[in-house]
Amino acid sequence: MAKSIYLVAGARPNFMKIAPIVRALQARADAFSYKIVHTGQHYDRDMSDVFFEELGIPQPDHHLECGGGSHAEQTAKIMVAFEQICVTERPDVVLVVGDVNSTLACSIVAKKLHIPVAHVEAGLRSGDMTMPEEINRLVTDSITDWFFCTEPAGVDNLVREGKSKDAIFHVGHVMVDNLFYQADQLQRADRAGFVSEPLKQQLGRYGVVTLHRPSNVDDEATLRGLAGALRTIAQDMPLVFPVHPRTRGNLERFGLDLGANIHLTRPLSYMDFLNLWKDAALILTDSGGLQEETTAMGIPCLTLRENTERPVTLDEGTNTLVGTDPHAILQEAARVIAGQGKQGRRPELWDGAAATRIVAQLEKQIL
Ligand code: UD1
Repeated sequence: MAKSIYLVAGARPNFMKIAPIVRALQARADAFSYKIVHTGQHYDRDMSDVFFEELGIPQPDHHLECGGGSHAEQTAKIMVAFEQICVTERPDVVLVVGDVNSTLACSIVAKKLHIPVAHVEAGLRSGDMTMPEEINRLVTDSITDWFFCTEPAGVDNLVREGKSKDAIFHVGHVMVDNLFYQADQLQRADRAGFVSEPLKQQLGRYGVVTLHRPSNVDDEATLRGLAGALRTIAQDMPLVFPVHPRTRGNLERFGLDLGANIHLTRPLSYMDFLNLWKDAALILTDSGGLQEETTAMGIPCLTLRENTERPVTLDEGTNTLVGTDPHAILQEAARVIAGQGKQGRRPELWDGAAATRIVAQLEKQIL
């Protein structure tokens, strides 16, 4: 009988990571069945539904509607709801992706019910215990059965933490699988309704900004400093800034004005955003995924954080870690604007076939 794999997705970056896994499982329908569980951690249409439509994946089989609240409230709500599903339906494997609260909540539930846990994007470590994601990564990996790693550092971290090498698989990156798939779709897409299209026509050469980390946007002094640096950069090159709901709230609360050369938009759909950033001269971000996607596409990226759990993007890719000091940001941005941005290469196994490797490995492990 086909083994059932439950795919957990909760927050925006999760949806793009499960899409290629869904496709790889569909190609092996003889061996696997699957269900998609949406925890509802992200619930705005712009942050959730729009991705399901566009990523070419079926609507979720289960929608837990556990958005909002504090970390504990959110995690607890997801655990209670997911436990009911696991008890009733007994999946053979629970597959979680990334490092969000949904990843943590569902891996704990599955493991306590003796359901094996597969973690995609395992082993990444920032070393920064003030990041909620770092805690989520550590806890999830402490109970994971099969670790799927995107880069060698992930493997090294897990080995250092004493995990069995037999359970660790360097498979490449499902985020990159999805990127290539969507870039191909974009060539044929009708861009008429895209927010990015008129902006591109209007602006010519431009940069793109995303910011949503609590450490950057919840603290007034930090956000004020970043806003000042962005305003200065935008005097030389216009910036487009799709704003996460958390960030929008804080910009308003602190009364921060970004000036006329920074074009704010609502959060964009995957394709609309890809259409925007793939032709940008510069990306400024605190996102994890965008550090990797820009490396995969060879676009210069300045990461506005003090650390990264994705060192391959620094060692091999186009990413530069600049921190949050406005002077450092201005200096590095000036370099990129002058055409002296970092060159990079695509890391090993970032080739569009990671999901196929994951499914092949799961087959070896459980069939
Ligand atoms: C979460 C992830 C983060 C990921 C990010 C991608 C955790 C700990 N963090 O952060 O790793 O990079 O998603 O976006 O899981 N909100 C809305 N509408 C939504 C979603 C959020 O208004 O659809 C607002 C709410 O006020 C909510 C707040 O944003 O309380 C924070 O949302 P939450 O899911 O807790 O964390 P993110 O900051 O989105």
